[in-house]
Amino acid sequence: MKKRYLISPGPTPVPEDVLLEMAKPMIHHRTTQFSAIFKECAEGLKNLFKTKNTVMMLASSGTGAMDASVSNIFTKGDTALVINGGKFGERWEKICRAYGLNVEVVNVEWGEAVDVDIIRKKLAANPSIAGVFTQGSETSTTAAHPIKEIAALTKDTDTLLIVDGITAVGVYDLPMDNWGIDVLLTGSQKALMLPPGLAFIALSDKAWEKSENCNLPHFYIDLNKEREAISKDTSAFTPAVSLIVGLRKVLQMLENEGYENVYKRHDALARAARAGAEALGLRLLAPNSPSNAATGLFVPSGVDGGKVVKELRENYGVTFAGGQDQLKGKIVRIAHLGYFDSFDIIIAISALEMAFSNHGADINYGAGVAAAQAILNERY
Ligand SMILES: Cc1ncc(COP(=O)(O)O)c(C=O)c1O
Repeated sequence: MKKRYLISPGPTPVPEDVLLEMAKPMIHHRTTQFSAIFKECAEGLKNLFKTKNTVMMLASSGTGAMDASVSNIFTKGDTALVINGGKFGERWEKICRAYGLNVEVVNVEWGEAVDVDIIRKKLAANPSIAGVFTQGSETSTTAAHPIKEIAALTKDTDTLLIVDGITAVGVYDLPMDNWGIDVLLTGSQKALMLPPGLAFIALSDKAWEKSENCNLPHFYIDLNKEREAISKDTSAFTPAVSLIVGLRKVLQMLENEGYENVYKRHDALARAARAGAEALGLRLLAPNSPSNAATGLFVPSGVDGGKVVKELRENYGVTFAGGQDQLKGKIVRIAHLGYFDSFDIIIAISALEMAFSNHGADINYGAGVAAAQAILNERY
């Protein structure tokens, strides 16, 4: 027997109460019973996104909502300013190019946050930029971008701000209406503590207006159709019924905890993970603007990160994420978003101490755990 722990930044662990909800017998989606659940979710999502506008629930992974935020809003030839600080910034660039937008890229060193001054200058030089595309949290580098500051630049202009909040919504407070975020989207398998398969997206009034001139091809994800359907407590196509049943439970859990406490929990777990890594002498991947969703750390020199991650999964039963592209084999990412609590961090740090030591690193057993404990105990 091996007990398994999922410490990855998506999919994340699903709470037992949510699993039980989703295990109940299937119900039909065109019924008053399901409509009541759908309606409750639609209202709950507005509280999470802090918006008066509709938050749509799509049967797709998060990328479906990224795709829709281009294909349903923009016009061929529009200029997109893409913040590319990692794998998911790169994805914005690919999606915008696939739909024939002119793409200007702000390349950000992996592990760093975008410099807001660069965006300010780009927007001043070209006020016809139709949209700024960014991540709230760039999961591949575990860096967070300064969304509030970026939103302040686009708020009273014709430029839209599109935020991939796939590992930011539910981790950080992102009050969409108040800050002036025009498109905010996320996925189910991250801070929303559900299996993969649902994406969520909301548009500001400014983005809805812009969408009226959209001439890009789209069919399956048609945000107008979804908005129209949701106003009747239903979805355009067959919804992911079980996931939505689970979502209702998740939203209840988050509201019971209180969103302020949810964000404080994420902040404490992230600080503990960083302190644990640093106490072991490990260098953080994103020391200047670390995300509260996951902590990337460089493995000790001489250690093959890919091998350690594999061994941790197969022999220790603990699943972490490693690095992608130029970070392959060099980093490990400790997740702390969604259904994570203090002792998940202790497990993560303790497992890393053991595995790194096993791979020849000079590890002072317990040093990382002790540093994390000191921070985590402030919570009780
Ligand atoms: C920031 C970010 N954007 C986009 C994605 C892609 O989401 P999905 O795999 O659900 O399509 C991910 C997935 O990890 C992510 O973390």
